[in-house]
Amino acid sequence: MNSAYIAAEHVSKTYQTRSGPVHAVNGASFVASEGQFISLLGPSGCGKSTLLMMLAGLEKATAGSLSLSGETVVGPRRDSGIVFQDATLLPWKSVFENVMFPIEILKLPISKYQDRAMELLHRVGLSGFESKRPHELSGGMRQRVAICRALVHDPKVLLMDEPFSALDAITRDQMNVVLSELLERYRKTVIFVTHSIREAVYLSDRVLVMGGRPSSIVMDLVIPFERPRRFEIEDTAEFGALCRELRQTIERAHHG
Ligand SMILES: Nc1ncnc2c1ncn2[C@@H]1O[C@H](COP(=O)(O)OP(=O)(O)O)[C@@H](O)[C@H]1O
Ligand SMILES: [Mg+2]
Repeated sequence: MNSAYIAAEHVSKTYQTRSGPVHAVNGASFVASEGQFISLLGPSGCGKSTLLMMLAGLEKATAGSLSLSGETVVGPRRDSGIVFQDATLLPWKSVFENVMFPIEILKLPISKYQDRAMELLHRVGLSGFESKRPHELSGGMRQRVAICRALVHDPKVLLMDEPFSALDAITRDQMNVVLSELLERYRKTVIFVTHSIREAVYLSDRVLVMGGRPSSIVMDLVIPFERPRRFEIEDTAEFGALCRELRQTIERAHHG
């Protein structure tokens, strides 16, 4: 097992805009081991999506380097799957066809992946919904489909950009449980962007706090809870203390 499965080394990103340069990320470095769940936490505008898009190979770093599985990221890769805040499903395709869409795009053998698609849908509680269209589903169900789609080709890395931020609080809690159960079954290295402190602590092995001006990684906090995790850990004093520590760090980075 490679201990530095994902590595970001002094990564910076400056966008050139009509009103001048925007320094979105400034010298961010971190390493993720294989199978770790890492959250990028911070307020809106601190460069979380930018860092994730660079890991996905969808944005280029202006300085520094990123690597995945020992290879420098130079563009989109087959070994990562991505989930956005909006499920971005194709409205004319069924649930099953949406999940199978990456297989179609990547020109992989359809027959080989059909069972996996069905199994993933079963795992997220969507058995029986395979032939529904996206508009027939709730927001939480659509996001479950998007997660299955991201995992169908069995990528090593799962990149998620605020996947549950548009959902109501109760659905969001349910989705956190669904995701963590799914990852018990299909071990992945996950980079998960969120601005929810509780969500980050519940899901992660480590939480990286982004902030400061210009923005970088200001904290790398280990979340020591054992797995599988029960939702009840959110009621413990230790959980509360970790959340408090993160909140104070975010406030300091924001006002400092
Ligand atoms: N394509 C872009 N062009 C110019 N500026 C951008 C672009 N994308 C993001 N930014 C700016 O970069 C900064 C970081 O944005 P982003 O990575 O989206 O942060 P976050 O995901 O934490 O909200 C913000 O100031 C944002 O306005
Ligand atoms: Mg964002």
